[in-house]
Amino acid sequence: MDYQERSRITLDYTGMMSSSQNPKGFTKEELLGLQKELNQAQASLQTRRDSGEIDFSKLLPSMKAQLPEIIEYANAVAPMYDNFVVLGIGGSALGPLAVHQALNHYYYNELPPAKRGNRPRFYVMDNIDPVRFNELLQILDPRKTLFNVISKSGNTSETMAQFLIVRDTLRRVCGDSYAKHIVVTTDKEKGNLLPIVLKEGYQRFVIPAGIGGRFSELTPVGLLAAAICGIDVEQLLEGAIAMDQWIRESKGVLSNPAQLRAALAQLSWQKGKNISVFMPYADGLKTMADWYAQLWAESLGKRFDRQGRAVHVGQTPVKALGVTDQHSQVQLYAEGPDDKVITFVTVEKFKETREIPIDLELPEDIQFIGGRTLEELLIAEQKATEYALTLAGRQHEKIMLSSLDAYNVGQLLLLLEWETAYMGELLNINAYDQPGVEEGKNGTYALMGRKGYETKKQEIEEYGKTRHILEEIGTKS
Ligand code: PA5
Repeated sequence: MDYQERSRITLDYTGMMSSSQNPKGFTKEELLGLQKELNQAQASLQTRRDSGEIDFSKLLPSMKAQLPEIIEYANAVAPMYDNFVVLGIGGSALGPLAVHQALNHYYYNELPPAKRGNRPRFYVMDNIDPVRFNELLQILDPRKTLFNVISKSGNTSETMAQFLIVRDTLRRVCGDSYAKHIVVTTDKEKGNLLPIVLKEGYQRFVIPAGIGGRFSELTPVGLLAAAICGIDVEQLLEGAIAMDQWIRESKGVLSNPAQLRAALAQLSWQKGKNISVFMPYADGLKTMADWYAQLWAESLGKRFDRQGRAVHVGQTPVKALGVTDQHSQVQLYAEGPDDKVITFVTVEKFKETREIPIDLELPEDIQFIGGRTLEELLIAEQKATEYALTLAGRQHEKIMLSSLDAYNVGQLLLLLEWETAYMGELLNINAYDQPGVEEGKNGTYALMGRKGYETKKQEIEEYGKTRHILEEIGTKS
């Protein structure tokens, strides 16, 4: 089926534009005024794509070609295990989690195996909190668990620590067959994980070169987990490919979804909107907000521009959930500082429906919801919030999905990746590195006794000597 005939994601940016209710909004002229910059951004992104600097779009056809291998492996292992655990962090964890939550049953792990298609339960361990880590290992039988170690660099301390603990446990419990319980997703050539993989003979999948963690969901990083847990990875990729084509082929800001989203972000950033709220009205997209927050923050929060000048740019992403956060955050969005833009994400047709019972004996002001459905209520609340924010003079836009299915989620992922790439160009920064986290990593190596980091250790210890600690009661100052 041609993309034009399939359900396309739609953008509604009325709430960003000037209107009688919100005269402070943008004008069409302001948007079109960015077209020249957007054209330059498009050309430069095309060059980066051609040179392999940004491969998240270029690799889609090769991922499609690799799908049969991924699906074959997934279908072979899925019935063999009760549990499938991803060990990874940041871009190596948030994508698999987001796609799983968007597309599988919300309580997937609690379903009886037959209702999960006899596929394993799914866990993502993306931290090193010893309590959570131990408690996960306490509830899993290692003999019935497959662990997917995901690390592009193969050097990440958190993931390596998890891997070493799991490998040790598996060796003790499973003996010689322990290696069958580990599948590794990492770089083809680089990193400390690779030699171990090759020596110990784990099943391996490759993260293509030129792909940073937060742009890697549509590589084996995300596709393997999705395939093992029964997600239609072909449709996921089809949706992504279609969105990619749309964005690359469509030239004008008013018709290119990534250009439009980036242009609105740029205008709002220039007008002091430092905060970008991502607020889906679907519980299935709650962790998509986590994934997007990392993508936006790590890609765009930069000190230097491409010419090395200090610029300190980047909107702070905030994750919210409709309707839950209407009772938590929306008060601030409506009446607090006017420093935010809100992106609502809506789903037109939910895969479940639920009617609210009619009870004529109830008071009028409760009775009115009887006979309506939960999704009607949810959609009404989203529309009402949107309107209320408009009246409050607050800007918002909307990404509209016809339904939460693999094709639409594939589109959404690519849209958000491309808009981030565009925004990187408009801000004139490198959206694909994360130098701001290196110092913290080096400090950790030093404190954990890594060779070569002795001076750094001394430096941190010196810093630690001067502290300001709350005084104890009774201390005379
Ligand atoms: O987006 C990124 O590049 C990071 O968030 C990484 O995914 C994260 O640091 C984990 O890195 P790695 O996959 O190399 O273990």
